[in-house]
Amino acid sequence: MQLATTLIELQKIIINWRLAGERIAFVPTMGNLHDGHLKLVHEARKYADQVVVSIFVNPSQFGVGEDFSTYPRTEQEDIKKLRAIPADLVFLPSVDEMYAPNTKTVVTVSGISDLYCGASRPGHFNGVATVVCKLFNMVQPDCAVFGLKDFQQLAVIRMMVRDLNIPVEIIGVDTVREASGLAMSSRNGYLTAQEKTIAPRLYQALCIARAAVLAGNKPYPEIEREAIQLLKQAGFTPDYFSVCRSSDLNKAEPEDVGLVLLAAAKLGTTRLIDNVYFSR
Ligand code: PAJ
Repeated sequence: MQLATTLIELQKIIINWRLAGERIAFVPTMGNLHDGHLKLVHEARKYADQVVVSIFVNPSQFGVGEDFSTYPRTEQEDIKKLRAIPADLVFLPSVDEMYAPNTKTVVTVSGISDLYCGASRPGHFNGVATVVCKLFNMVQPDCAVFGLKDFQQLAVIRMMVRDLNIPVEIIGVDTVREASGLAMSSRNGYLTAQEKTIAPRLYQALCIARAAVLAGNKPYPEIEREAIQLLKQAGFTPDYFSVCRSSDLNKAEPEDVGLVLLAAAKLGTTRLIDNVYFSR
């Protein structure tokens, strides 16, 4: 497994693969790798000859007062985990390598970036779209693999790729969960022992709401209100809980078939997100 920290190093490796006619899959991450990330890397292997993983804690997707400075950075452990799979190349750029001083260009996927997590974290999805676009330009993969855990992020990236004619196939992978049902996340490490016992209730609330949607005898706003109530009772501070149309993430209408329930809630100072997607 090779490592690169600069664009020049990265391109020297990639160009040889391209000349040999090999297919390249890309898995962007912010590191602190858990089994969810590793599943993406395993999945990437199915689609390509060479698998590139990036580890970059992207400052532009964190808001003022968010956890950019405290975000867990575990580079050596991450590299060990990727060697064990193995990935073929790990790209670990510095902030200076990724962002020119006084950078002026931002990618905005309008509309969808302002909903849900975008409403609570203004500018977050501009940061995500911009860094993913930059990484695509640097790595020039044939395909890229993302987790459905970040359902809205994946939708933003799919729209960006469509709108900017980026020739990268986007692949979504199911959420990897703890035995408790809690979706794996680098931010779970912030939870106290007590909060860890409560955290799985977020997924439970989603499953209860999904059952209510499938039962078909309650209007969606009522299901949302009940879920928010349940989360509050469990000790969360809910941010949003929404029954959405999976194609564009707008609020679902009774006739919609492809649905996703999107939820975000704070437990103490930790913000957790999760979702369930299904057809009715
Ligand atoms: P990060 O949170 O490190 O996640 C990297 C990838 O892993 C994303 O595609 C995310 O959806 C996926 N992932 C996280 N937890 C998962 C789980 N439990 N099961 C399956 N997949 C999971 O998402 C980001 O980084 C950044 O926003 C990034 C796209 C790298 C841009 O900076």
